[in-house]
Amino acid sequence: MGESITITDNRTGETIEIPIDRGGIDARAWGSLLPGIWFDDPSFTATSGADSAITYLDGAKGLLRYRGYPIEQLAGSTSFLEVAHLIVFGELPNRVQLTAWSDEIASEAPIHENFHKRILEGFRDDAHAMGVLVSGIAAMSTFWPDGKDVEDPVCRRTQIIRLIAKMPTLAASAYRRSVGTPYVQPDPDLDYTGNFLSMMFCQRDRPYEVDPVLRDALDLLFVLHADHEQNCSTTAARVVGSAHADPYLTVASAAAALSGPRHGGANEAVVRMLENIGSYDNVDDFIAGVKAGDQKLMGFGHRVYKNYDPRARIVKDTAHRVFEVTGRNPLLDMALKLEEVALADEYFISRNLYPNVDFYSGLIYQSMGFPVEMFTVLFAIGRTPGWLAHWDELLVNESRIARPRQTYSGRPERTVPHTDQR
Ligand code: SDX
Repeated sequence: MGESITITDNRTGETIEIPIDRGGIDARAWGSLLPGIWFDDPSFTATSGADSAITYLDGAKGLLRYRGYPIEQLAGSTSFLEVAHLIVFGELPNRVQLTAWSDEIASEAPIHENFHKRILEGFRDDAHAMGVLVSGIAAMSTFWPDGKDVEDPVCRRTQIIRLIAKMPTLAASAYRRSVGTPYVQPDPDLDYTGNFLSMMFCQRDRPYEVDPVLRDALDLLFVLHADHEQNCSTTAARVVGSAHADPYLTVASAAAALSGPRHGGANEAVVRMLENIGSYDNVDDFIAGVKAGDQKLMGFGHRVYKNYDPRARIVKDTAHRVFEVTGRNPLLDMALKLEEVALADEYFISRNLYPNVDFYSGLIYQSMGFPVEMFTVLFAIGRTPGWLAHWDELLVNESRIARPRQTYSGRPERTVPHTDQR
């Protein structure tokens, strides 16, 4: 046996040797010696919940690979649709496959008119775009009940294409509803990301001129967000998907998890934090407040990366290219100062707190004209291939339903008192 651990049950003196396999040990071996003894790990900090071939992370070294390809190589040399194909099917498409894949996605991009008239119009004018998006994704399950045949790989492929294709259309419709501009359907003559920008910002009386720099930057951001192993929202997808819920309700649950400010909602929280700090001169006081525990430095810290998030570095470089077109985001100087002060401060160094993917991405989105309520929606568009790849993977692997145990800390057995005795 290679690397292993040996555990002893001191109550019986029994021991068992368990191999260490790819950084983990099999809980079933543990259970054979210690039935009914659980690992108490509420936030899964030291728990592997899946055997996955999709994404590899090394938090200490700041490594991120999709299906073996380093993110630094994929970023800037492949399109989001190529990366979506890689993440979902395991390989980058060749030219013929890419054309067929792009055509399939484009053909599925339109959404039913009833989505606009009966679903989106049902929301308050000030409804947050993530609430609209999560509801819209879930509503798709009522339009395509055939998606419930989750054990059929052909059915799964159909739903995967529908969801990747329709996310930008649903997202743009959520935005247009909020600003009162007429809904538009996708333009099949535009590429995936250019089409999204056009659906977002085109006006009735004039077509939207897609700026190639902005389009390339947004496409790159989608690539950077496409998957990230067992993050909170992907874990939600795997848990809900393990119950054999349909892919629309599964992805809706993932998007709901993503909306939290500790997760995908952080890109919006960063910009609101910068706006609340107000000026460059207030940065030192804000950092003092963070160190006193008054607030978090949003966009910093990560459960896995104890080094600079490799995506944050790429986002930061991309920001400069975008600002050459849009003009420099006035919040950038404050963000750079926050990073400079934090990276030199023992509080952050001792806790391995570095900028994550959300620290600079919101500045780009804002400069491109997206309102802050749309930032996490953009994250969701990028992450959809990842959620779906994990959903497909767990079904291919015929995973059992997710059902963790617990450590009970409640009351011992007691007798129900009559109402008059309570
Ligand atoms: C994403 O998992 C993924 O892969 C996620 C993601 C993806 O692609 O899917 O990478 C995307 O969600 C990135 C993270 C975006 N969230 C934020 O930027 C929000 C701010 N960050 C924190 O809330 C926090 O860092 C988390 C939620 C990201 C990680 O939380 P952990 O791993 O539970 O860490 P922790 O709360 O236990 O913190 C450890 C220590 C604590 O201090 P002490 O109690 O030891 O004194 O570090 C401190 C925390 O107070 N700390 C921070 C901090 N993050 C952690 N202090 C100030 N500011 C912060 N941002």
